[in-house]
Amino acid sequence: MSDRPSVLFVCLGNICRSPMAEGACRAAANAREIGVTVDSAGTGSWHAGEPPDGRAVAMAARKGVDISGLRGRQVQAADFHRFDHIVAMDADNLANLRRMAPADARAHLSLMLDHVPGRAGQSVGDPYYGGPEGFARVWAEVWAGAQGLLDRLTRKG
Ligand code: 4NP
Repeated sequence: MSDRPSVLFVCLGNICRSPMAEGACRAAANAREIGVTVDSAGTGSWHAGEPPDGRAVAMAARKGVDISGLRGRQVQAADFHRFDHIVAMDADNLANLRRMAPADARAHLSLMLDHVPGRAGQSVGDPYYGGPEGFARVWAEVWAGAQGLLDRLTRKG
């Protein structure tokens, strides 16, 4: 086990919000020279093995972040032992994670926007059925959440 803090970002499909969150957090951590292990997964299994949605890839690329190599996977019971933090994009994902969590889970569960001042308890809404503006909104939210999360991890030392 390494000393690096580890974070798993979770949404429904693992092709839109959580891969963007993973990419944003990795990029933000690199920029700050913080060693953090990041990953993402979905509560659903429909998109396992697939790359992120093209609109998510394009949005991240506009910000200089390449998420095209990521592949979808479903959350597993072992994730609750492997990660320090599991960060859900919305309230439904969080409720599903709480139901799945083993009694001896190590991971601390939270919402992405719990890490953004003034937005605790709010959800990063699903952009899947909307237009490109939804992906810009998701990027802004996951970027802000990643910054707040990294602030928290570095405060803890
Ligand atoms: P995500 O978006 O949870 O942000 O990856 C979705 C992607 C696919 C589906 C739902 C949400 N879907 O129903 O296939």
